[in-house]
Amino acid sequence: MPRSDDYDISKSIDLKDAVSGGSQQTSLEGFLEESSQAEQKINTDEVLEVYNFPTEELSRIEGITFADSVAEEVTDYTHGMHTYPAKFVPQIPRWAFRLAELDRGDTVYDPFVGCGTTMVEARLCGLDSYGTDISPLARMMTEVKSNPLFPEDPARLKSCTRKLLSNIRNDTTEEELTDENEYFNPPINWDFWFPEQAIADLVKIKRHILNFDPPVEVSEQDRELLEEFYLINLSSIVDTVSYQDENQIKVRKDDGKFEDGLPETVDLFEKTVEKNQRGAVEFAKKCGGDGLFANVVGEDARTQAVEENSVDLVVTSPPYINAIDYTMAHRRSLIFLDFFDQESYKEHRREYVGMTERAVTKDYYDELRLTGYDPIDEQIKKIFQKGERKDKIRAFILYQYFTGMEEAFESLDRVLKEDAYCVIVVGDNEIRNEYIPTAKYLNSIAESVGFDSVTNFKHYYRKVQLQTGRRSTGGKIDYETVLILQA
Ligand SMILES: C[S@@+](CC[C@H](N)C(=O)[O-])C[C@H]1O[C@@H](n2cnc3c(N)ncnc32)[C@H](O)[C@@H]1O
Repeated sequence: MPRSDDYDISKSIDLKDAVSGGSQQTSLEGFLEESSQAEQKINTDEVLEVYNFPTEELSRIEGITFADSVAEEVTDYTHGMHTYPAKFVPQIPRWAFRLAELDRGDTVYDPFVGCGTTMVEARLCGLDSYGTDISPLARMMTEVKSNPLFPEDPARLKSCTRKLLSNIRNDTTEEELTDENEYFNPPINWDFWFPEQAIADLVKIKRHILNFDPPVEVSEQDRELLEEFYLINLSSIVDTVSYQDENQIKVRKDDGKFEDGLPETVDLFEKTVEKNQRGAVEFAKKCGGDGLFANVVGEDARTQAVEENSVDLVVTSPPYINAIDYTMAHRRSLIFLDFFDQESYKEHRREYVGMTERAVTKDYYDELRLTGYDPIDEQIKKIFQKGERKDKIRAFILYQYFTGMEEAFESLDRVLKEDAYCVIVVGDNEIRNEYIPTAKYLNSIAESVGFDSVTNFKHYYRKVQLQTGRRSTGGKIDYETVLILQA
């Protein structure tokens, strides 16, 4: 189904090529020079599946010796449980594990963990992992995807699902969509965004999940994880039964979406759970009893959440400046699943590195704020001085992004062991017709915080469908840069 994560880079990377390596190294000077060639657009159809490996030395990473089987496809095991904008493919963290020559039981950390790709893959590869994300929905997905459910007997999940579905189907009560119904935390303008039947069915499913009494004996930990598993499945269908145009990242209503009839919400939930439980059972069979941990810790990458000097590798993709509004992408789930009410949701939007324009109020953008990094500040000033309100807002967004990333790097430098690698995957941007060489800037911020820049390279993808609606603000992203830093 085409969805907002069409931007997924999996579409073009030939990962076999990636593993066998290539020699198209981009030197740092070359990279910096190239990055400064503003608006140079790459014809990605011609570039095709290029995945440049940085140096001879770094392409020694053949074969995983500490795991017998890992995900071959981007949706294997629990990877495909929920769509997520701009998630990376599992092969990227796996490549980084090889780069760092990790041993079984070593520790990986992803401070912008999103839907948990790094942690799922770490677990499959025999590694301990930590992850942080500002979004409670992302944290819940990651928890569910990277921890085995019923590790002693994964098939128990199937009996639970049978019982849950039969409870839902046998319940013929009409759901009251009023304030008195404690399970109805309506997303903003719900009656504009959902057919009434769809929201009533969603509320009924939620009520059954939150009151579910499993037919098998379960530990407290499994009970919690089971509930979260079902809630994530519910979240994954919320937009499908709403009028949201699922081909858009931006919020956009598609009035004709249900011209051929509204999908039956309970049927859709059933299909989704059945698909996802196959992956969850496979994951639990592989990882149950492995003695490893996958811990979601902390919320904000800018605040240290992991013990100092304890991490063997960081691999992460930080947010894109002004390109993907995660709170908008997930706002219906965030509210419907009770993470926020409408007021606290507004506040939550300000906590993101790469805060969305909608969340920037006058107090933030009215005065010129600078980062202390000359080239970045030159660009901030240039945009601010264009003088319109939206220029000032975007100047603030740049300031907020790079100062936030500086704090995140400081924290990463503390938690990484000496000489450990930190792999950052990031795209460049265009803001108000200004090309922003984000990767280059992050590289110099990391260096000034104390990292050594080992090398970097770009990977290109064939086609990007980062549809941002009528007002495209984030600019096209035709390639991403992989920065390899060392603590
Ligand atoms: C590009 S996505 C990461 C996707 C991830 N690699 C995956 O495969 O799912 C960036 C993530 O950064 C998170 N984020 C934004 N601000 C943050 C902050 N201050 N601390 C932690 N995470 C943050 C967003 O919620 C989003 O999940």
